[in-house]
Amino acid sequence: MSEILGGISTSHVPAIGGAIAKRLQQDLYWKPFFDGFDRARAWLAEHQPDIAVLVYNDHGLNFFLDKMPTFAIGAAATYTSSDEGWGIPTIAPVRGDQELSWAIIEGVVADEFDVTTCQEMLIDHAVTIPLQLLWPDRPPPVRIVPISVNTVQHPLPSAARCLKFGQAIGRAIAGYSSDEKVVVVSTGGLSHQLDGERAGMINPEFDQLCLNSLVNEPTKLTGYSTRDLVELSGTQGVEILNWIVGRGILGSRTREIHRNYHVPISNTASALQVLELA
Ligand code: DHB
Ligand code: FE
Repeated sequence: MSEILGGISTSHVPAIGGAIAKRLQQDLYWKPFFDGFDRARAWLAEHQPDIAVLVYNDHGLNFFLDKMPTFAIGAAATYTSSDEGWGIPTIAPVRGDQELSWAIIEGVVADEFDVTTCQEMLIDHAVTIPLQLLWPDRPPPVRIVPISVNTVQHPLPSAARCLKFGQAIGRAIAGYSSDEKVVVVSTGGLSHQLDGERAGMINPEFDQLCLNSLVNEPTKLTGYSTRDLVELSGTQGVEILNWIVGRGILGSRTREIHRNYHVPISNTASALQVLELA
C-alpha cells in the first residue's frame, strides 16, 4: 500500500517565477515569502516522497473557456510547461507517474467522479512555481500526477464536492499497491482578485479561518457556496478549492507542521501550509 505522508499547500503567483529567475529571494520584498519555504523543504528532505499528487487549476494554457473540465487528471509520462504570456521562464519537462495516474482515475470513476483523462497535458505556473519553490536546486526528484480543478469558468464545483473528490482520490491512493511515498501539493489562493472593481482585494481574516479549518475541520469550509467564496476571497481566491481537494486526499486527522502567511505577493495574500498525517 502506498503511503500518503502529508500535504503542502502554497500560492502560485507567476511573479514568483520572475523573482526566482532574477535571484531576488533575499530582496526585501521577497524574503518573507521565500524564507517560509525553508521548513517545507526540510520536511521534504526528511520524508523523501517519490510522487507528488499536485492539485491546481489551469489558467487557460491547457484548457480554455471553450472546453473546461470540472476535474481533469493527467496520465502522461512527461509534462511540458509552455509560454502562457506572463513572461516567466518555462522549466524542463517533469516526469509523470502513469501507474498512479490510472489507479487514481480508475478509483475516482468507480467512486462516481466522471473525470477528464489527459494523456497529454501542458502545465502552467500553478504547477511549475510550486515545484520550483519546493525543489529549487534541481529537477524535482518526484514524479507527478497533476489534477486540475476548474476554478476559472463558472459554474465551479462546490467546496463540498471538492472535499468529496479529494476523499475519493485519497481512497484510490490508499488502495494502490506500491511501497511508494506520496506528498499532496495543492496550489493557488489565498484571497485575491485580479480584475474588476475589487481588484487587489484581500481578506486576511477569511484566509486565517481557511488555514485554521484546513488542519482538522475542513467541513467548516464546505458550508460556503461559490458565491460566498468569491465574495469573501475574491474572484481568484476561489482557488482555495484546490486546497480543499488536497485536504480531502489527506483524510481525517492532520497535524500542522508549518504555516507562513505574507501579504501581498503581487495581488495575492500568499500562504504556505504543511500538514502531516496525524
Ligand atoms: C496572480 C495570482 C494568481 O493566482 C495567478 O494565477 C496569477 C496572478 C497575482 O497575484 O499576480
Ligand atoms: Fe492562480
